[in-house]
Amino acid sequence: MLCLGIESSCDDTGVAVVKDGQIMASLLASQIPLHAIFGGVVPELASRAHYNNLAELFDELCQKISLKPAQLDAIAVARGPGLLGSLLVGVAFAKTLAWTLQKPVIAINHLHAHLQVALMGKNMAYPCLGLVISGGHTELYRMESPTSMLRLGRSLDDAAGEILDKAGAFVGLPYPAGKAISDLASQGNPLAYPLPEPYLKNDNLDFSFSGLKTAAVNLAQSLGLHRQTSQSRLADFCASLNHALVKTVTTKCARALEQEKDLQGLCVAGGVAANPMLRNSLRNLMLAANGAFHCPPPELCCDNGAMIAYSGYLHARNGLRHKLDFTTVPRGKKIPEDAIRSSAGE
Ligand code: KG4
Ligand code: ZN
Repeated sequence: MLCLGIESSCDDTGVAVVKDGQIMASLLASQIPLHAIFGGVVPELASRAHYNNLAELFDELCQKISLKPAQLDAIAVARGPGLLGSLLVGVAFAKTLAWTLQKPVIAINHLHAHLQVALMGKNMAYPCLGLVISGGHTELYRMESPTSMLRLGRSLDDAAGEILDKAGAFVGLPYPAGKAISDLASQGNPLAYPLPEPYLKNDNLDFSFSGLKTAAVNLAQSLGLHRQTSQSRLADFCASLNHALVKTVTTKCARALEQEKDLQGLCVAGGVAANPMLRNSLRNLMLAANGAFHCPPPELCCDNGAMIAYSGYLHARNGLRHKLDFTTVPRGKKIPEDAIRSSAGE
């Protein structure tokens, strides 16, 4: 079974083909240079770049694996959450391809797909805890199976990656700053500057990172990091920020394990999951809890087409598809459960 995956929810255009649950090829056109000068993703520019990149990237993918589009069994596309204009480019492409080839289309929840690809080929015991931590989202899920998940908590404001990107931009690190911050953090003292571990004095599983962002920017200003770069001070700053973030996220994951006592393991995905200190902290948490821990390699942590193709494969394997008129869902809106059985007509 050959499933195409199309990802265009933010600033990466991704296409991939999964054959019987294995990634055959995956191509990515990153827009980082386009947005770097603005210090963040400019939605209008992102959708134009997806529009310019997508058809060519799909052709390149077909050539790479000698694929004729008619050989595809299903076409999966990220329907949300994300930037609406960007999503619409991928969704319009997928619907056109599906209609032209008369193949089923499958509308994918981008956040579920992050977790599903993280567990690809792994023997995870369920139920388990799923953490998606990226530039746009920080969410905790109870996963009953790879395809059945219940959201337990989410960020009420900024995502974890967003605060790294914003604080990093303030001290002059290139966009997106998450990797630079985690690299510099490894050379600094995590206890150099006290930063708040926010939104822990409650009993819920939601996050709120905007206060940490403000505290980090205020600290950087008081240290003069936005004017000159003393490498060791900058490293201490990054280590302290990273430490506060990692401790906060680990505390909420520990709380989820306390509240949902039957969880067998933890799966973490999304761009910030590439952060080695976060991975270590969560791995240690699961070691202490006697549970499994899975995190994909860094190239699968960030947005990519393979996660959408793999999620599409899981749907198709369960006999699920979508009608051609499925909706595209921006960030903050609920994604409908509107998959249909493959035997049902469109
Ligand atoms: O999943 P992703 O590619 O896109 C979104 O859906 O947001 O995640 C991108 C985010 C950015 O905020 C970036 O700074 C962060 O992931 N990131 C990292 C690392 N690599 C990327 N954050 C911390 N440590 C890293 N090594
Ligand atoms: Zn993502």
